[in-house]
Parts: sequence; structure tokens; C-alpha cells
Amino acid sequence: MKKLTRAKTMQRQALTWRLEKRRVVIVPTMGFLHAGHAALIKRARRIAGKNGRVVVSIFVNPTQFAPNEDLERYPRSENADFQLCRSLGVDAVFLPPAQDIYPKECEAPFSTFVTEESLSTSMEGRSRPIHFRGVATIVVILFNLTQASHAVFGEKDFQQAAIIIKMAKDLKFPTRIIVAPTVREADGLAKSSRNAYLSLAQRENATILWRCIEATRTSVNEAETGVSAKRMRQKLERLIDKTPEANLDYIEFFNPKTLAPVSKIQHSDRIALAIRFGKTRLIDNGLI
Ligand code: PAF
Repeated sequence: MKKLTRAKTMQRQALTWRLEKRRVVIVPTMGFLHAGHAALIKRARRIAGKNGRVVVSIFVNPTQFAPNEDLERYPRSENADFQLCRSLGVDAVFLPPAQDIYPKECEAPFSTFVTEESLSTSMEGRSRPIHFRGVATIVVILFNLTQASHAVFGEKDFQQAAIIIKMAKDLKFPTRIIVAPTVREADGLAKSSRNAYLSLAQRENATILWRCIEATRTSVNEAETGVSAKRMRQKLERLIDKTPEANLDYIEFFNPKTLAPVSKIQHSDRIALAIRFGKTRLIDNGLI
């Protein structure tokens, strides 16, 4: 397994692979890899096949964090990440320094950003206004540096995946985007690097996100003609209010294609929610 730390080296290697007619499958991550990432890497390995190459990028992307967010304390575990990647048959780990991606101290500091202007206005985009501009920008850079024929993202970040699919389509990228299912703990909590921030008590209470998804499914299953989004939101707000330390950011019921909110929830819709436990903000989503 190669460890590539420079953008130029990554791109040179990727261009060679593409000249050799190999698939290049990227799994973009911010490191601190867990079972959720492992599932994405295994999927990438299957897509790449014997001749293809799998690249895992590990880059805590500063442009997707607002100044009040957790960029500085974002958990890191390079050695464990390398070990996991090696055990899963990754061909190259790409971990560039921030200065290589976003040059600052030079004649021509970085000044080009990519913005998706429709799907990114709701939910995470409303709560974290600069987040998706940072995500879209780094993903475009990674696609260029790795010459990716395929890219695998997690459904845990459903809105992010929808925006990347739209961006790749709008900007005519030849990269195929694959979205892999969320991996969950036995009690339903979605695997996330940020779970590491939770105290024991917060960890127990964090199952509220999954319980909200399940409660919505149960209500829609029991109703004949869909469920009022307003009433469902009130019901979930009561559940969240009863959960110690849980502070609701948003709950949205939406159409998975347009991400537009729905007033009547049907089986084909999705729920997404964000809840804070102290300084830790967790998100989850699911098909109803
Ligand atoms: O989902 C993530 O971990 C990040 O948003 C991504 C896609 C790696 C971009 O920094």
C-alpha cells in the first residue's frame, strides 16, 4: 500500500493508472476510520476488481468547518487508519497537508470554490452555511487528483451524497458516484467518528436519533394515507425533550430526489435530523 502525501504525486500516479486503463475508486474520508468507512472501502475494492486501484483519502478539510466548529479537535488516528486500509486491500492512502490543497503562503493563494445552489440550502446547509461549499470544493479537487472513475460515499450523509451526485452531473464529471448504506451499532446509533466525543451517558441517549427514525416508520406503517409532518415533528420533539442533554437542531421529512420538505409523510419519503449532545452534533437519516 502506497502512502502519498503530495497532491502532484497523487495525480501523477492516478494518471498512470488511467493510462493503464485501470478503474480508480476513491473513498474520500476525514480519517478516524470505523466500521462505516470499512464498509465503503470493501465496496470500493469490489468495484475496482483485481485490476483497479482503490484510493482512500484522509484529509480533515478545513473549508467545510465554520470557525465555531470542531476542526481543531476532530479525532485523528493515522496509524490505526493505515492498518485498517492495508487489511482491506487499499492500494494508496492519500493524506496531503492542508497547505498542499489550499496554498496560503504563496503568490497565488487558493481562491476557487464550488457551490451547489439548490439541494444545499436546506437541513445541514441551513445549520452549517459554508459546509457544502467546502465539501463540494474538496471533492472536486480529490476527483481531479485521483482521476477517479468511481467514488463511494456513505448514506449516513444523505444530503452530502445527493449534492455530490448533482455536482458531478452538473459539472460533467465522468466519475460514477456510489452511495453505500449506513452501518449502525447494535442499538441503532449510526457509526460516526464524532461518536468518540460522547460521554457514556450521552452515548446511551444518542440512540434517540434512531428511535426518531423508527417512530416515524411505525406511525407511517400504522396510517393509511400518510402522516402529517407537522404532527410527527411535534411527537418527535416531545421524545427528544424527554431525552437528557439532547438539543434538537432540526427534523426534516423530505422527498429523497428533490430534498424538498413534504407536508404528508409517505413510505417513499425520508427523515433527516440533527441533535446536539453538549458540544457534539450528531446527524442521521432514514427511508420511511
Ligand atoms: O463525509 C466526509 O467525511 C467529508 O465530508 C468528505 C466527503 C470526506 C469531504 O471532506
